[in-house]
Amino acid sequence: MKITVVGAGNVGATCANVIAQRELASELVLLDIKEGVAEGKAMDMMQTSALLGFDSRVSGSTNDYSKTAGSNVVVITSGIPRKPGMTREELIGTNAGIVKGVVENILKYSPDAIFVIISNPMDTMTYLALKASGLPKNRIIGMGGILDSSRFKYYLSQAMECPSSDVQGVVIGGHGDTTMIPLTRFATRAGIPAAQLLSADCLKKVAADTMVGGATLTGLLGTSAWYAPGAAGALLVEAIVRDEKKVYPCCVALDGEYGQKDICLGVPVVIGKNGCEEIVDFKLNAEEQAEFNKSADAVRKMNQVLADMKVI
Ligand code: 2OP
Repeated sequence: MKITVVGAGNVGATCANVIAQRELASELVLLDIKEGVAEGKAMDMMQTSALLGFDSRVSGSTNDYSKTAGSNVVVITSGIPRKPGMTREELIGTNAGIVKGVVENILKYSPDAIFVIISNPMDTMTYLALKASGLPKNRIIGMGGILDSSRFKYYLSQAMECPSSDVQGVVIGGHGDTTMIPLTRFATRAGIPAAQLLSADCLKKVAADTMVGGATLTGLLGTSAWYAPGAAGALLVEAIVRDEKKVYPCCVALDGEYGQKDICLGVPVVIGKNGCEEIVDFKLNAEEQAEFNKSADAVRKMNQVLADMKVI
């Protein structure tokens, strides 16, 4: 199994590090445009292998796509991250051209790859990758919902004063501060509805904190977060390479599911060796469906910018 991570910044390097430590690939390539950075980070990771006891082979490359040839899974983290006060959507002008170029270059050497998109604004970058590549929709998966759900579980565990491993919770919709939808109705602690363990106000605050979870970290760090985004990307890769058939909320192309078409948006999907193998199309209640439609409208507006920029 060969995996490439494009972008050796904080998120890409963290993702690659988790992939290496979990031995998901026999060969892992880290690629970046900054001279020496991918090579240096790959070597640093390899120097942890004797300490941590993993056998993955990690190499780095400065923009030489031939080194990525024959990759089965490619994670794209390229582009600029947001700064405090910025929305993910403000990155589109810079990141659209970068992501499109990366997809085209990767396809020259890895025509059968499954793509995991992390670059922001993620829903629009996933739509761009789908359109620019012309690939079947099962092979283009945006990573946002796994991360947002993990943040949801973190805030739920803090509110319920319990370990996050006790908590279930799912976030669907867009990966934006105002477009994501934490489904509080389905949140549980060990199967017990969170709505029976927390007050309505508390649950509302958990949902609100989740939605600005990324922005909160950007405010603290001065740039966007990386540990959870990198780990979430790696878990998505793991579900593909181990053919796990796990249900994860991911950004995928919808063709009528949840009442939406011609858009990539976060919904629960079954992830396995073919990428997105099935969309779990369950019934939302009227309020949730209205929020989902609102989220789709906002993401569709962003996607229109791609057409205005003439990148698709
Ligand atoms: C985040 O939410 C990087 O979009 C990512 O932290």
